[in-house]
Amino acid sequence: MQVLVIGSGYVGLVAATCFAEAGHRILGVDVDAAKVATLSRGESPIFEPGLDDLLKKHLASGALRFSTDLKEGIAEADAAFICVGTPQSDDGSADMRYVLAVAGQIGTAMALRSKAAKPLIVVDKSTVPVGTAARVHAEISARTDRAFEVVSNPEFLREGSAIGDFLEPDRVVVGCQTDHAETVMKALYQPFLDRSGGKWFRMDPASSELTKYAANAMLALRISFINEIANLAEDVGADVDHVKAAIGADRRIGPAFLNPGPGFGGSCFPKDLQALLKAGREHGHPLMSLATTVEANRLQKQVLLRKVKAFFSVKPGVPAPLKGRRFALWGLAFKANTDDIRESMSLELIEGLLTLGAEVAVHDFAAMEAVKARIGGKVHYAETPLAACEGADALLIATEWPQYRDADLEAVARALKARRIFDGRNLFRPEAMEAKGWTYFSIGRRAVMSS
Ligand SMILES: NC(=O)c1ccc[n+]([C@@H]2O[C@H](COP(=O)([O-])OP(=O)(O)OC[C@H]3O[C@@H](n4cnc5c(N)ncnc54)[C@H](O)[C@@H]3O)[C@@H](O)[C@H]2O)c1
Repeated sequence: MQVLVIGSGYVGLVAATCFAEAGHRILGVDVDAAKVATLSRGESPIFEPGLDDLLKKHLASGALRFSTDLKEGIAEADAAFICVGTPQSDDGSADMRYVLAVAGQIGTAMALRSKAAKPLIVVDKSTVPVGTAARVHAEISARTDRAFEVVSNPEFLREGSAIGDFLEPDRVVVGCQTDHAETVMKALYQPFLDRSGGKWFRMDPASSELTKYAANAMLALRISFINEIANLAEDVGADVDHVKAAIGADRRIGPAFLNPGPGFGGSCFPKDLQALLKAGREHGHPLMSLATTVEANRLQKQVLLRKVKAFFSVKPGVPAPLKGRRFALWGLAFKANTDDIRESMSLELIEGLLTLGAEVAVHDFAAMEAVKARIGGKVHYAETPLAACEGADALLIATEWPQYRDADLEAVARALKARRIFDGRNLFRPEAMEAKGWTYFSIGRRAVMSS
């Protein structure tokens, strides 16, 4: 198959390289000329494990190339994937500007296709509100009489394991109207489903569009639920690790997405939940459980700062003056194995600490440059996790990079002013930390105080 992939961000780039890996011929398109130049040199502008190798491999094989102009590939294409951003608008809804702009460009470029060509399958892969397939269809048909069909095909990859998720999906969801569209989509995805044994779901476009939002909402709901149970566990003397293991063993519940933490962030959940809430309100079905999830998460993103303030406060209830205090912060990305800092709780934590007069030394394995570009010299950037700890009053952990779990805690203790960790990711067990004389705060387990 010949495929256009329009938008070369996290989703478009992963889709383009993985389709090339499956033997298809891909033109990756982006409006950002600098990004296209970087990609054409075989350099990935984003951090995603395994992506660099696939990119280099398929540029070399000729299966993959990049351009700023989708007209270069439209005449021969069997399918054109729209993978541009759908950020949050001021009113919470998804901003459809980029998707509709691409639809318009496709419509104009369709004149380059022969009248006898099979219908072009235009695929909405961006996360978009219900009704978008119809809007994209209208944008294109206003500009061309050539044959095409718009298909919804939401993406479920997770940053940090995006290549594996794409190559071995749990399921592929396709919202389409004709057998021709399904045949093209199956030809693209069958190699992946063969590898994973994943399920194929054909449905109407509206159901497909809603499936993506519903999946993200359900995952967010689980996270906020376990975070609230964790907060309660601390106060009633329970241990959330025991609770989550036992409820997760129930097959009706399952163990995934039950890890308490410092609140969810990232480029998807926050904006997708707002878009779904907006849709619910518009249609007279306010999604009350989702609204509570969002509010619980807003509070949870303050959890580490709350614990730090409580620990350093002179009297209970009196805000802690943190002037003259220094904190090491491990983890800036919203989760491990990505450089994405969109809606990362670390940024809120840094802001909170700075506002209270503290100094912050930060470390991350992939997201340092992104944070530098965002907040510049407000914090110290440490080359190593250990260097961030030098002279700090406490270590705060916000991202679950596996290297942090394996850190030499005795070296960390020597670098810090005191054996103190506020762990937002529950990387260590409280009893092990207690045995080694740490003051250790985590999420949903008892706090440990060194004497
Ligand atoms: N990032 C994820 O983990 C993830 C997972 C599933 C779904 N999604 C959804 O996929 C979509 C894309 O997300 P992303 O994280 O890849 O976004 P991104 O911001 O990383 O990438 C979007 C790319 O589109 C390009 N672009 C914008 N307008 C264009 C145009 N007219 N022509 C060509 N390129 C254009 C931008 O330059 C950018 O490179 C969003 O709707 C998102 O919600 C993202």
